[in-house]
Amino acid sequence: MEFQASDKTCLTWSGDCLVIGVCEESLPLAGMMAELNERLTGLLQDLIDETEFTGKDGATATLRVGKQGPVHKLGLVGLGSVESLKPETLRKAAATAARLARKEKCSSLGLSLPVWNNDPALTAQALTEGSILALQEDSRFKSDKDEKANPVQQVHLLDLAGQEAAVSKAQAICEGVILARELVAAPPNVVTSVSLAETAAEIAQSCGLTLEVLEQEDCEKLGMGAYLGVAQASEIPPKFIHLTYKPEGTPKRKLAIVGKGLTFDSGGLNIKGAGSGIEMMKVDMGGAAATLGAAKVIGRLKPEVEVHFISATTENMISGRALRPGDILTASNGKTIEVNNTDAEGRLTLADALVFAEKLGVDAIVDLATLTGACIIALGDDIAGLFTPDDGLAQEISQAAEFSGEKLWRLPMEEKYFEGLKSLAADMKNTGPRPGGSITASLFLKQFVNGTPWAHLDVAGPVWIEKEGPYHSPGATGYGVRTLVQWVLASS
Ligand code: BES
Ligand code: MN
Ligand code: ZN
Repeated sequence: MEFQASDKTCLTWSGDCLVIGVCEESLPLAGMMAELNERLTGLLQDLIDETEFTGKDGATATLRVGKQGPVHKLGLVGLGSVESLKPETLRKAAATAARLARKEKCSSLGLSLPVWNNDPALTAQALTEGSILALQEDSRFKSDKDEKANPVQQVHLLDLAGQEAAVSKAQAICEGVILARELVAAPPNVVTSVSLAETAAEIAQSCGLTLEVLEQEDCEKLGMGAYLGVAQASEIPPKFIHLTYKPEGTPKRKLAIVGKGLTFDSGGLNIKGAGSGIEMMKVDMGGAAATLGAAKVIGRLKPEVEVHFISATTENMISGRALRPGDILTASNGKTIEVNNTDAEGRLTLADALVFAEKLGVDAIVDLATLTGACIIALGDDIAGLFTPDDGLAQEISQAAEFSGEKLWRLPMEEKYFEGLKSLAADMKNTGPRPGGSITASLFLKQFVNGTPWAHLDVAGPVWIEKEGPYHSPGATGYGVRTLVQWVLASS
């Protein structure tokens, strides 16, 4: 799919399908829209009347104009009221338009939407993101690859001449999101710790990052007993991935992004039972997928920030070598953990990854993890939980998420609940009581960060959707990539 920032308007563009974004206030028709209506001998007004189109957010109407005129099909997409217009409104409207063009088998699409906040660059970025992300389909594991072939070959962003840079930025961002989606969607016999390390190597190669992969012996030397405890039953060797992006000049800030990278989570000896969703546990590397996706984008966009991308990857399996409920592990900061539940494995791998990240001397650390089912109970499938003791970092992440349209909600790190993790034998247990399970998980992680501003995102819900989303097909969403990238770019 090719994008063009065009100086044409809805009156001068010609092609297969013209889609116009209409705010509630743009009706009754005036200005260019009124003129377009005249040229169409009143058909636009008829369409509005017949479909009772009011410009309500998400409403659509389509009209076949015929092959003889400059445009063959006309679509309207409602944007709601002018004041409520956000980048996310434009992203969703572009997605709706692109799907409409696909359904109508159009090869060229002209998008005519209002500029948000007098910012044509952000507008072009949002429109590009929405169209690409909505039409991405994954047929890697189907034998009939043409099943859902996309007929839309050209997208023209009308009245956005000169916005080529914003378009390529959006394209780079989408590549990262699509990489994350593909990593999450691929089955656990394909995406393994070994394959993730290979993916990291490809990113390093193509985007100019440096890659360090710590093998089991390296992790042993660093005393990563918590991570290695989880990894010990797998037949596949653990790979601790550390990608580094360094800008050319002096970095304005040094950041670390850490992703949970469990390529499969059986639960271990506390095995996940029937109805637990064990067959979906390929998604348990969603944090690592977002981390690698963000690495790819940052490597392309080259901001003036140093960023470390880290994941302690493995799978949580059972065998004669498996971690036993009751085992005590020692993490790389010397803290001891009584494993009272082998299914709370993500926090064990993150413990050593966070210690490693902090040793790099970064200014802030953000981790993403499909950490707890409890977070899905609290916030549902669409919203990630944000946990941080640092109000400044909470604000940075929330602002980035607001811009990207990825939903999150801050939850409290109630210190008193750490009592639930007290162990008779060790410094702490790895799980507490069921109530507040996402909070105790965060308090556990906090034991492995010693003063560096740190935020944890529990993404167990939004990594995957069962039904079609605003700009994703059912399945992996690539959640996190756009918020992470926006956070990094805002620091540069
Ligand atoms: N990977 C799971 C969390 C999860 C659940 C991710 C659903 C995606 C969808 C995590 O390792 C886990 O098993 N958590 C346990 C923690 C419990 C043992 C304290 C859970 O949420 O049940
Ligand atoms: Mn688990
Ligand atoms: Zn898990």
